[in-house]
Amino acid sequence: MSHEKVEKNIGLMMILIIVVISFGGLVEIVPLFFLKDTTEPVQGLKPYTALQLEGRDIYIREGCYVCHSQMIRPFRAETERYGHYSVAGEFVWDHPFQWGSKRTGPDLHRVGGRYSDEWHRAHLMNPRDLVPESNMPGFPWLAENRIDASLTPKKLEAMRTLGVPYSQADIDGAAAAVEGKTEMDALIAYLQVLGTAIKTRR
Ligand code: HEC
Repeated sequence: MSHEKVEKNIGLMMILIIVVISFGGLVEIVPLFFLKDTTEPVQGLKPYTALQLEGRDIYIREGCYVCHSQMIRPFRAETERYGHYSVAGEFVWDHPFQWGSKRTGPDLHRVGGRYSDEWHRAHLMNPRDLVPESNMPGFPWLAENRIDASLTPKKLEAMRTLGVPYSQADIDGAAAAVEGKTEMDALIAYLQVLGTAIKTRR
């Protein structure tokens, strides 16, 4: 009888469906906030240096994430190509993380250390000099623009507010650490540290 009531009353049915789905969501999502695997940094994870953090901002500004993901899925085809799959503890200090899902180019999560700084410099100036079939745009202006060092300490402070363990010395030294560096230097410093916190097969 009561089942008939639900079937004949679409409003009631909608409310009950929402209740059921919410429980499903809560059961899947809430535990993640308490699991160490998803909230604690992996061993060996270091906060970005001042220069790497500036590079990360350039990565975001230039829209690299539009073509590149930073999230290796735990499938053979991915781990064979990119290295160890990504784990949540590697991203706990990334605000916001750059996982993405669009892959016009390859995943970049473990690109750190795969190429030399010089390779990246040439590639970012004009990708086709190194990869003739590439459709990645060049970013030559990065080699001319200098980092605005006056903003860097504030960026570290903002990250500290979000829980990244920067010391006062890190913040005090941030401006000097990026003084005179180009945006290209910063972006390459960022690329070279990506995915290097845990041991990979590469
Ligand atoms: C329009 C899409 C597009 C954009 C935007 C883009 N890329 Fe790429 N990227 C590609 C493609 C396609 C490749 C593969 C061909 C090549 O190596 O050039 C690639 C390759 C790369 C590689 C080599 C990866 C490897 O494992 O061989 C790096 C590093 C890279 N991109 C960094 C960047 C950075 C940093 C930016 C932002 C400044 C950026 N890309 C923006 C499409 C893009």
